[in-house]
Amino acid sequence: MAYIARDDRPEDKAARYAEVAEEIMAVLEGEPNRTARMATVASMLHDAFETFFWTGFYVVDEDKRAAGTDELVVGPYQGTLGCLRIPFGRGVCGAAAVTGETQLIDDVHAFPGHIACDSRSASEIVVPVRDVEGRLLAVFDIDSTEKAAFDRVDQAALEDLLNRAFAV
Ligand code: SME
Repeated sequence: MAYIARDDRPEDKAARYAEVAEEIMAVLEGEPNRTARMATVASMLHDAFETFFWTGFYVVDEDKRAAGTDELVVGPYQGTLGCLRIPFGRGVCGAAAVTGETQLIDDVHAFPGHIACDSRSASEIVVPVRDVEGRLLAVFDIDSTEKAAFDRVDQAALEDLLNRAFAV
């Protein structure tokens, strides 16, 4: 059943994350392919929370990196059409990639340089995704049509899940 954020308590949200994280980790068991793992995380999380409007990955483009440019390219996602490419430093995803820190944005329209892939997005959380050696692989972006949809509960749960799913 999908979780509806507004009227629920933080401990309920944390419990829902814990439940879906276990389901995700069970599906990922034995699957080494990174695209398959990202697609599974995006699909199962998007389905678990009704407030998630866009849920997915922007992956570090290794070809561009080899050519000396830092750029993210869209990876597995659920939701409406996402922008294909985001330079490091642009928008919320680009800020997460450059700083290596999770970005919690209550009002995306107030964020300097926000990239409006879909004008219905109102708030978002973007979490850096690293491999076992700590190298940045991607950022994981969730957008909501509600303002301030994400908080420290989302941050803690997502950082933990992405660590378990990709730093392996
Ligand atoms: N909002 C993001 C762009 C990606 S999408 O919303 C799918 C940003 O400013 O980084």
